[in-house]
Amino acid sequence: MPTIEIEDFGAVEADHGTRLVNAIRASEADIGHRCGGQAKCTTCRVRFSEGEPENMTRAEYEKLDQTDALGDYRLSCQITVDRPMTVTPLMLAEEMGWDDPGPAPAAEVEPEAQWRDRADLEAETEAA
Ligand code: FES
Repeated sequence: MPTIEIEDFGAVEADHGTRLVNAIRASEADIGHRCGGQAKCTTCRVRFSEGEPENMTRAEYEKLDQTDALGDYRLSCQITVDRPMTVTPLMLAEEMGWDDPGPAPAAEVEPEAQWRDRADLEAETEAA
C-alpha cells in the first residue's frame, strides 16, 4: 500500500488505484474538488515533489492545456495511486474561504479515464 505524503498534513496509506484526490481527502487536508472530480474546476490541483506519474488522462491534459497550466500542477482527481507520492495541495477550502471543498469525487476516475503518455498527448495536440 503506497504512502502518500501531503505537505503540512502528514502521510496517509492508500490502496493501489485510489484516486489521489480521495487519498488526500483521507488526511486533514481540505483539498478542493469543486466539480466533484470531473476534470473541470482544477481546484484539486497539486504540486508533486516525488512520484509524479508520466501518464495523464486525456481529460486532465485537455484541461491543463486549455488553462495554460501544463507543467505547473496536476489534477489529483485524474491520478490514481500506483507508487509512493509526495504532494502539496494548492487550493484548500479554508484558505479559499469556501464553506466546503465540493461534492465527493466517485471512487473511479471520471470522465472515464483514457490514460496516455503525456508526450503522446502533446504530439497529438501539436499535430491537430
Ligand atoms: S478538476 Fe475538479 S475536482 Fe479535479
